Formats: sequence, structure tokens, C-alpha cells
Amino acid sequence: MYLQGGILVVVAVVQILLHINGTSACLPYIPREAWDAKPPKSVEKFAGPIPYVIIHHSYQPGACLTGSECCEAMLSMQKFHQQDRGWNDIGYSFAVGGDGRIYEGRGFNVVGAHAPRYNDKSVGICMIGDWTVNLPPENMIAAAQSLIEYGVRNNIIASNYTLIGHRQVRPTECPGERLFKEIQSWPHYSPMLDVVDPNSIRT
Ligand SMILES: *[C@@H]1O[C@H](CO)[C@@H](O)[C@H](O)[C@H]1NC(C)=O
Repeated sequence: MYLQGGILVVVAVVQILLHINGTSACLPYIPREAWDAKPPKSVEKFAGPIPYVIIHHSYQPGACLTGSECCEAMLSMQKFHQQDRGWNDIGYSFAVGGDGRIYEGRGFNVVGAHAPRYNDKSVGICMIGDWTVNLPPENMIAAAQSLIEYGVRNNIIASNYTLIGHRQVRPTECPGERLFKEIQSWPHYSPMLDVVDPNSIRT
């Protein structure tokens, strides 16, 4: 009896502490192996903490709703980026699916191919789908924000990071008009604009 009571108190205290800490450290995370990613042709790293978070949409493929649809979406984006674009790997650092899960792309601190001039100082997060008219569902927004919080908590993303949409550094409608409006209310959003003629730079 005495022991059981003690254990209950410990469990209650742990639950309270977790609650105080806010979101738990448990990310809904799908590593590359789990979506059957092809190996990258090469990997180039950069040092952190990472100063920028850049939000994208895939436009195509469209929104995926189940785990298997989202794995398909990851495979198709990787294939397009590696084969048609000739890049090392899927361009994004991470992608978020309509199943509310975070899919590992190149990962943190790996030079991406998603935002020219920012690929070696940013985390590129792709919200899978076309978010021109519709807002991504709440589970996708929550997943993206939990990934950013995880990065900051672990000093992978700089605590004073700047969050922007792809269109702020390149002439593109990405991340979609509706999603672009949404991210303007996210923590650390900056209205900075640094768009240059894409023909004047490589990748
Ligand atoms: C963030 O902090 C670093 C280190 O203190 C500093 O060099 C950088 O300019 C800061 N960035 C912003 C956007 O304030």
C-alpha cells in the first residue's frame, strides 16, 4: 500500500513536470529509412545553430492524408529532385504530411536545395500539398511548429531564428498564398525581403 502510494505520487509529479515543460519531446517523426529513401548522392554539412527557418509547400504532389500516401509523396519528390533536377537528394530538410507527421528529408545542418543563397543557413520545411487557397490542417501546422520548437530546445536552431516563406528569398508563389498569410502569425516571422533574379545565381 505504502509503496503503491509512493509510486502514484511520483507518477503525478512527473506528469505535472511534463505539463509545466509544455510540449513533450516526442515528435511524430518518420526517419528516412521508414519512407524508404534512396541514399543521397552526397552530403554537405554546415555548422549550427541554424539562423533561418524557411516554409515551403510542395504544390505537387498534393496533400497526402495517410502514412502510405505521405511516404509515396516523399518518394516522388525525392525521385523528381534526384533524377529530373539532378540534385543530391530531396531538396527539403523536412516535410510535413497531412497525417500530422514529420518526414525526414536532408535533416538538420545538411546543405539543402530549397532556397538559393539560404541552403547553408536554413531549415527548409515543406508542407506537403498546395496551400494556395486552403490552409493546411491544424495537425500539420502543429507538427511544423513542434519540429521548430524541438530544434530550438536542442540548440540546433538558433533561439533568435528568423522564420520566412520561400517567396521572400526567391521569385515564386511558394509556400502558397493562404499558407503564406498563416505563417505571418507564427513566432519569429520576419517580413524581410531578399529576392534576386534567379538567373544571376547558381542553384
Ligand atoms: C542572433 O544571435 C546571434 C548570436 O548572438 C547574432 O550574431 C545574430 O545577429 C542574431 N540574429 C538576429 C536575427 O538577431
